[in-house]
Amino acid sequence: MKGLLERAQAYDKSDPLASHQSAFCLPPSIVYLDGNSLGPVSANAKHFLNECVEQQWQTDLIGSWNTHQWITMPQRVGASLAPLLGAEPHELISCDSISVNLFKLLSHIVNSCSERDTLLVQRGNFPTDNYVAQGLAQLTSGRITLKEVDTADLSRHLDTRVAAVVMSQVNYKTGERYDIADICEHAHRNGALVLCDLAHSAGVLKLDLHQLKVDFAVGCGYKFLNGGPGAPGFIYVAERHHNHLQPALTGWMGHRSPFDFEADYHPAHGVTGLLTGTPPILSMAALLGALKDFKGCAMENLEAKSHALGDFFLTALAELGIANQLTLITPTEHARRGAQLSFEHPEAYGLCQALIEAGVIGDFRAPRILRFGFSPLFLSFTNVLHAAEMLQRILASQSYRDAKYTERKAVT
Ligand SMILES: Cc1ncc(COP(=O)(O)O)c(C=O)c1O
Repeated sequence: MKGLLERAQAYDKSDPLASHQSAFCLPPSIVYLDGNSLGPVSANAKHFLNECVEQQWQTDLIGSWNTHQWITMPQRVGASLAPLLGAEPHELISCDSISVNLFKLLSHIVNSCSERDTLLVQRGNFPTDNYVAQGLAQLTSGRITLKEVDTADLSRHLDTRVAAVVMSQVNYKTGERYDIADICEHAHRNGALVLCDLAHSAGVLKLDLHQLKVDFAVGCGYKFLNGGPGAPGFIYVAERHHNHLQPALTGWMGHRSPFDFEADYHPAHGVTGLLTGTPPILSMAALLGALKDFKGCAMENLEAKSHALGDFFLTALAELGIANQLTLITPTEHARRGAQLSFEHPEAYGLCQALIEAGVIGDFRAPRILRFGFSPLFLSFTNVLHAAEMLQRILASQSYRDAKYTERKAVT
């Protein structure tokens, strides 16, 4: 059998996505396995952002709301996302954070399902999802109850009292991917809706929200979509729900005619009615630029490469003789995993810091998880081999035990 380096080079040579790597502005000495947390900047994102600052804001000033169509940025970013998610352009809008967007959608669900009193939330979901649901339930003064259950038990808990299931498609810690189509089928059979968090899916997994029959979805722009720190998120609402959206957070940008400044709120039709305040144009410009990098990429190719990179990483760990020093907690089956691999190690924090100092950036999740994201647009198989080799070196030297690596920073 060929050596690991020869195989990595052969995979890189036949990689149909290899030409995309040069679009990203990563320091040459870095292997970036954290695109699942904050994607890197690309030349397109920088160009759109610079143009927005230097031409539109600096020169064209307030007129840019019309001349550069700033006012339709939320819809235009939404439309650019449509092919990545298997949705129609008018079913998507870009705005706010996942947390805020969840509140809007959940409040709509609660307002529109007066005969149902339960929200099923997924145990182990990213905390903000359940915090938002908790805050909303409190607002209803006891009318809505939350039931937190393991993902495997969600279907069993569906009954005529459940208004909606709130869940992530991919678990942020373990990288496990769940069968959304199955959950949607069970939920719909029981008259319930499904709200899916796509934070770890958008931009890297092949999605067809229509085929999956998801009712509502949210996601962020800063992970695999590479939209930049704090990039605006997005909302998906299946067209069949467009007629009666009743979010509890109603702002002027969601009004049917914001510039008439009417005294009373009348929502715009469809997803535009989920806008609230003034869109963050600079952030949206960067995200719109970043989305250009996906033009012409078939999502099945992105997902396949991400899985191939992850598989090669596992092969390298095994052949370098270190696989048994870490506990893989992500399912290896492609259908059951997202675009990251997570490992447990008793000293995961120090290990993560030592790797970062060696130029291999992954991340840590408490209490002992090391996460590596496999972004298909900018990573090569050679990068992945280098990361595995650095991990081998650090494990062998035990440098991760050094006090400088074990002191916790504010953001872990
Ligand atoms: C699954 C998931 N949902 C939500 C969030 C955070 O959402 P927000 O955009 O509100 O910060 C994250 C952040 O990493 C996440 O992984």
